[in-house]
Amino acid sequence: MTGRVVVTGAAGKLGRAVVGHLVETGWDVLATDRVRPAGYAGEFVTADLTDHGQVLELMCGLVDEHPGRVDAVVHLAAVPAPGIVTNSATFANNVPATWNVFNAARAAGIRNVVWASSETVLGLPFDVAPPYAPVDEEYRARPESTYSLGKVVEEEMAYQLCRWDPELKMIGLRFSNVMEPQEYAGFAAFDADASLRKWNLWGYIDARDGAQAVRRALEHRATGLEVFVIANADTVMSRSSAELLAEVYPEVEVRKELGEHETLLSIDKARRVLGFEPEHSWRDRASW
Ligand SMILES: NC(=O)c1ccc[n+]([C@@H]2O[C@H](COP(=O)([O-])OP(=O)(O)OC[C@H]3O[C@@H](n4cnc5c(N)ncnc54)[C@H](O)[C@@H]3O)[C@@H](O)[C@H]2O)c1
Repeated sequence: MTGRVVVTGAAGKLGRAVVGHLVETGWDVLATDRVRPAGYAGEFVTADLTDHGQVLELMCGLVDEHPGRVDAVVHLAAVPAPGIVTNSATFANNVPATWNVFNAARAAGIRNVVWASSETVLGLPFDVAPPYAPVDEEYRARPESTYSLGKVVEEEMAYQLCRWDPELKMIGLRFSNVMEPQEYAGFAAFDADASLRKWNLWGYIDARDGAQAVRRALEHRATGLEVFVIANADTVMSRSSAELLAEVYPEVEVRKELGEHETLLSIDKARRVLGFEPEHSWRDRASW
């Protein structure tokens, strides 16, 4: 399955990988961002997603020089973490931008929407221990920052919009910490202190594997809202996952027999439903 897809946040860390992968796999991509992605020669238009009129024009294929009915949306644009700008500025950018994308997509009759939620809704930075490990999609969101609260609000909006339109498909991808290959050389520094990366249970997502998850979510035939944790199959650490839990969260119930470096951000649902399978690991030099 392919078609014409608008990708927001196209100049960002994840967006660059997603645009490249979707183009490679046959999607007709209209990329958009507030800033032009450096060196990108494909179809691109600058837009500010906090302006509903601009978003509506994008979704309706009403931008001069960029005509064509839009079949799907991948919405990645956001302030991507807490503390980059103030809490209210984070919320005031992210949540209205997402509302605008969701609402304009509905107005344009687009029923295939994939967007970036975040691992933060699982309770990061886990100053309060996770309810069990590996964490998954089965417990109620525990946002601990305004950024994360915004992601929870977006998931709830999507749930209600899907209730309003039974033919709509919306997939929220709860990405782990996005990494590019050039960052893998720095991973060795995490090993000395298990508490350094406990904030996301030592998880990460290779931007290329994140892009694979986006494509699989786009291709997935379904209706309604689904959310998926998207992480790599392993952790950022050399110590085993069982040792890490025993050291940092000895009281947390471990719900499965863990592989040596198995992710503690469960990707079982993404594997089962989307066929997602990470292809890259920082442990494999060929992935650097
Ligand atoms: N980076 C991570 O570790 C991480 C982890 C989990 C989830 N996410 C989510 O994944 C998505 C992509 O993150 P990223 O790491 O690529 O971030 P990034 O900052 O590299 O890219 C985000 C892009 O969104 C654009 N943008 C922001 N607000 C906009 C607006 N109002 N109008 C138009 N463009 C706007 C920015 O210009 C930027 O290019 C975000 O939704 C983020 O919340 C990121």
